[in-house]
Amino acid sequence: MIMGGSTHFSVFLLVAIILLCSSSKTVNATCYASEKQALMDFKKDLEDLSGRLSSWIHDVDCCKWEGVVCSNRSGRVIQLHLQRPVPEIHVVGDEEESPLSGKISHSLQNLTHLRYLDLSLNDFSGIPIPSFFGSLRSLRYLDLSGAGFQGMVPYQLGNLSSLRTLSITCSVYSSDLQVDNLQWLAGLSNLEHLDMSGVDLSLASNWLEVINTIPSLVEVHLSSCQLDLISHYLGRDTFVFHANFSSLTVLDLSRNRNFLGHLIPRWIFGLTTLASLDLSWNSFEGPLPRGPWNLTSLQHLDLSVNYLNGSLSDELIHLNNLISLNLSEKYFEGFLDGIWNWSSLTSLNLSYNNFATFLPSQLSTYIVKA
Ligand SMILES: *[C@@H]1O[C@H](CO)[C@@H](O)[C@H](O)[C@H]1NC(C)=O
Ligand SMILES: *[C@@H]1O[C@H](CO)[C@@H](O)[C@H](O)[C@H]1NC(C)=O
Ligand SMILES: *[C@@H]1O[C@H](CO)[C@@H](O)[C@H](O)[C@H]1NC(C)=O
Ligand SMILES: *[C@@H]1O[C@H](CO)[C@@H](O)[C@H](O)[C@H]1NC(C)=O
Ligand SMILES: *[C@@H]1O[C@H](CO)[C@@H](O)[C@H](O)[C@H]1NC(C)=O
Ligand SMILES: *[C@@H]1O[C@H](CO)[C@@H](O)[C@H](O)[C@H]1NC(C)=O
Ligand SMILES: *[C@@H]1O[C@H](CO)[C@@H](O)[C@H](O)[C@H]1NC(C)=O
Ligand SMILES: *[C@@H]1O[C@H](CO)[C@@H](O)[C@H](O)[C@H]1NC(C)=O
Ligand SMILES: *[C@@H]1O[C@H](CO)[C@@H](O)[C@H](O)[C@H]1NC(C)=O
Repeated sequence: MIMGGSTHFSVFLLVAIILLCSSSKTVNATCYASEKQALMDFKKDLEDLSGRLSSWIHDVDCCKWEGVVCSNRSGRVIQLHLQRPVPEIHVVGDEEESPLSGKISHSLQNLTHLRYLDLSLNDFSGIPIPSFFGSLRSLRYLDLSGAGFQGMVPYQLGNLSSLRTLSITCSVYSSDLQVDNLQWLAGLSNLEHLDMSGVDLSLASNWLEVINTIPSLVEVHLSSCQLDLISHYLGRDTFVFHANFSSLTVLDLSRNRNFLGHLIPRWIFGLTTLASLDLSWNSFEGPLPRGPWNLTSLQHLDLSVNYLNGSLSDELIHLNNLISLNLSEKYFEGFLDGIWNWSSLTSLNLSYNNFATFLPSQLSTYIVKA
């Protein structure tokens, strides 16, 4: 009995010691020498005027370096947070942090467990996005927005099949980045957030077919992409495009302008999960599609600055969850009537239309800027 008890006790001790050892190992995970070397090489090719990487020194565990996150379990480098910090409120006299610039070393390829890479808002002044990023197979998050990259977006990014977020926006005014064929995007079969606003997609004529093969998409931002539609998909009632977007909540196709002469495609009005739709500044023409619409989740709708005309559809009036509605600068006419049941509406812009009637009395409870 006593023997058995002490055996149990020593087993318990042994288990406790093993647990203690393994947990202390977890907490003290130190970085791999090869990964530290890769980061040192990466730093060597960068210009860092504000000394943002000053904690990156050889004698310090690289898991403790600024912007570097290691896995607690394996000690592998799994995240690099290197976005330029931009103060939310600019205080005069505060020194702004300089962007990182220079070259991007191939040594990053040795961070084979990297899941998160944020280089946004730095200034890589005109170098292309490195095609070897496509070999960082563990990446789930890649943000290269506003970082001064130029040229073709490398199709090798299509190998990042674990990616959930891809953000590669660039300046709306220069369209520094281009895509001639977006087919590679179809490889990102788990993508949820896509933002390529400002990237020139005028040659990527299959953009809609491609994003339609990724049903996991939750947010799509393709504003100012010089998108050229897709005439065969346009809202002709005779052509049925089977939208596959079962999770889409945000669709921003604003400021494309090349939709001139086209109706707003009907399939957009069948997206039941959509909460925010921005089609402003697109030169869409003609009336809104006839019902039934199925935009039952819609909260924000911006159709301003197009050449839409005709009378407002009853369907619009039945969007019960609208919070903001912007219909400014169009040529809607006729009567604004029907059942105005927008109890959640807080913002409404009806300026520059040709409505013939006074606004319904219910509207006086909203902030009207007509
Ligand atoms: C590692 O553990 C620390 C302390 O428990 C925790 O704050 C941190 O978020 C963990 N890091 C990761 C990447 O899980
Ligand atoms: C990756 O690491 C290996 C081993 O440490 C090294 O030989 C190789 O040069 C590194 N590759 C790059 C691109 O830095
Ligand atoms: C993806 O990786 C495979 C194997 O490494 C390679 O053969 C292929 O060319 C890559 N594809 C792209 C689009 O980069
Ligand atoms: C819809 O998504 C599925 C699953 O990804 C895909 O196989 C199918 O081709 C897509 N349909 C269209 C019309 O693109
Ligand atoms: C809305 O759903 C109904 C019923 O499924 C369908 O007949 C109609 O075409 C849909 N409307 C749009 C704009 O997709
Ligand atoms: C609406 O605009 C289209 C072309 O932009 C035009 O053909 C049509 O006559 C207009 N309809 C109305 C009711 O003004
Ligand atoms: C339309 O109104 C919304 C809500 O006030 C606003 O956020 C949006 O910027 C406006 N759109 C344009 C093109 O001005
Ligand atoms: C309403 O739209 C007009 C025309 O687009 C714009 O000038 C005005 O600033 C908008 N008002 C608000 C409150 O957004
Ligand atoms: C108005 O909205 C409320 C809440 O969304 C809904 O219960 C009601 O049926 C709507 N009434 C009409 C006439 O659409």
